[in-house]
Amino acid sequence: MLKKSKVSRKVKKSKRSAKVKRNLSWNKPILSRKLVLLVALAIIAGTAAYLQRPEDLGLKLPPPPADALYKQSGQPIESRVQDLLGRMTLEEKIGQMALVDKNSLKKIEDVSRYYLGGMLSGAGAKPDINTPQGWLDMVSEIKSQADNSRLRIPILYGIDANHGHSNVLGATIFPHAIGLGASRDADLVTAVAKATAAELTATGVNWNFSPSLDAPKDIRWGRVYEAFSDDPMLNGTLGAAFIEGMQAAMSGNPSIMAAAKHYLATGAMEWNQSNNKKFKIDQGRTSADEQALVSEYLPPYKAAVEVGVSSVMIGLNQWGEQRVIDSKYLLTDKLKTELGFKGFVVSDWYGVYEYAETSKYQANINTINAGLDMAMLPYDYKDFLIDVRKAVKSGKISRSRIDDAVSRILYQKFKAGLFDIDTENAGLENVGSVTHRQLARQAVASSVVLLKNENTLLPLSKNSGHILIAGSGADNVGRQSGAWTVEWQGVDGNWMPGGTSILQGIRQLAGNNRIEYDISGIFDGLTSKADVGIAIISERPYAEGWGDNANPTIEKADLEVIQRLKLSSNKVVVVILSGRPLLITDQITGWDAAVAAWLPGSEGGGVADVLFGNSKFSGKLPLPWPSVIQQLPINTNGITNNRTRPLFERGFGL
Ligand code: GLC
Repeated sequence: MLKKSKVSRKVKKSKRSAKVKRNLSWNKPILSRKLVLLVALAIIAGTAAYLQRPEDLGLKLPPPPADALYKQSGQPIESRVQDLLGRMTLEEKIGQMALVDKNSLKKIEDVSRYYLGGMLSGAGAKPDINTPQGWLDMVSEIKSQADNSRLRIPILYGIDANHGHSNVLGATIFPHAIGLGASRDADLVTAVAKATAAELTATGVNWNFSPSLDAPKDIRWGRVYEAFSDDPMLNGTLGAAFIEGMQAAMSGNPSIMAAAKHYLATGAMEWNQSNNKKFKIDQGRTSADEQALVSEYLPPYKAAVEVGVSSVMIGLNQWGEQRVIDSKYLLTDKLKTELGFKGFVVSDWYGVYEYAETSKYQANINTINAGLDMAMLPYDYKDFLIDVRKAVKSGKISRSRIDDAVSRILYQKFKAGLFDIDTENAGLENVGSVTHRQLARQAVASSVVLLKNENTLLPLSKNSGHILIAGSGADNVGRQSGAWTVEWQGVDGNWMPGGTSILQGIRQLAGNNRIEYDISGIFDGLTSKADVGIAIISERPYAEGWGDNANPTIEKADLEVIQRLKLSSNKVVVVILSGRPLLITDQITGWDAAVAAWLPGSEGGGVADVLFGNSKFSGKLPLPWPSVIQQLPINTNGITNNRTRPLFERGFGL
């Protein structure tokens, strides 16, 4: 036994010695290998730490001299841009390309720490106190942070003010673009844009993500109301008029930058081709039709470029099989080279990464190389800074591309006067002012389209006798305003200060009639039929894909209201509040009169003005009104999908 154990021990020993030897023989390499490993780890950790601390991304350079050329307002803008660019570190340049949502800012100091070029209030991202003063305080704080940066480059603050400064409680809410399209009045659009610019300036906001130049071909899309028309020519005319009004100089204040969107061919997506599975057509696929590109999609942007639009926002849709935002052909060759666009290209919300099918790092490279100049991140600004810096250092994005992008951004900031005019944001009284509300009321009256008028029932006389008013939109400023109103998806109700519902407008105008109101149209105790019943029906507010609808028709409750009024009144007028034409073919035959009032905004009195003859009906349909779903999409020449006639052609209006 001993022997055996001896043997086994021997064996073990020899094994052990071998092991030890092996260890020993490895010892030198192990030690030096460990050492190498430790050193490598230290380098990686050090680099990572170095990279992670953004303030180390830029060198601790001294501030520029007080008389640096770029600070001199008398110098040509191009020289100021080049002078400033020459003083910037790579990190300071990349920071200018980042557009961050206010609610994603981790610390207010990050504005200067990451050299951010722009902030935005994504729809509904309000200050704690949603008043004009509350907005001014919030925006001013962000701006003063940018002032702390070494080069003190003014920061952009962008917002969606597509129908007035509509995030702010108390602001004037103008008709959504589809209603302005019905007015066909470029001067009116310019005036509305100027009034909106004044309300934006009062709160310190200096960039408006409008106008939409989208051309809706399919009323099932949830963003028809944000466009002027499906006609590219009308879009170009009214879009340019809006941009001129929005970017017009305002004495003592910088001008507001506009953003023509959503480049390109948004509105021409095909049903059931959406990248976003929550939606049916929004963010969808547009067929890459080169003929349509030239004749329909580019012309409105050409008009916008010709009036000097500061920025162009890229849509979330696809052009054929490629995301628009990845297309150098569309962003650089067509927009910048062929159309000569000198402003900067900005992505839509998270648009760089949405359906990118690559890493975020690669998506940054692809989009910036395609021609993107500023990324509406809107969240991870540290990652963006580190990613793009790494991409430049490794030659995946050229320094000249970065310099081009930053030059474009700086040029627009100089052009708007942001470096030179230290505005005190005078003008809080402009927000929701009487003048602006009067203009909005006039815009509403010009936007209403008279679709039917048996025996010229309209305009009603102010002494029409007994009037019954009913319907979901009769007394609801929220529904008459639609989306992008205080909240992203809008509000449903009357709690907006300063607004006038259509019912209130009628009472003010025709109060000496006997006017009764019930939302459901139930009027007990009627001894005889009323002279007129007015049904004011509406769509619930919706923004973006949430408005995609396979069958846009009148809500059941509103159909019942119309039925009840037909029984209780001698004549029935139907007022349609909607962001798009609704399918009314079977119902309209039973109505005596019908008007399309779109989404008029806060000044419902404008609808009363045309119903009771204070203003003439002048609105014309800005797009065809289909009679059946099978007619969709309807192309820009009014040809429907099944070659039948729409219920009403574009341009119709009694
Ligand atoms: C949204 C919209 C765009 C808007 C942007 C900022 O997703 O697509 O129109 O300007 O994000 O709110």
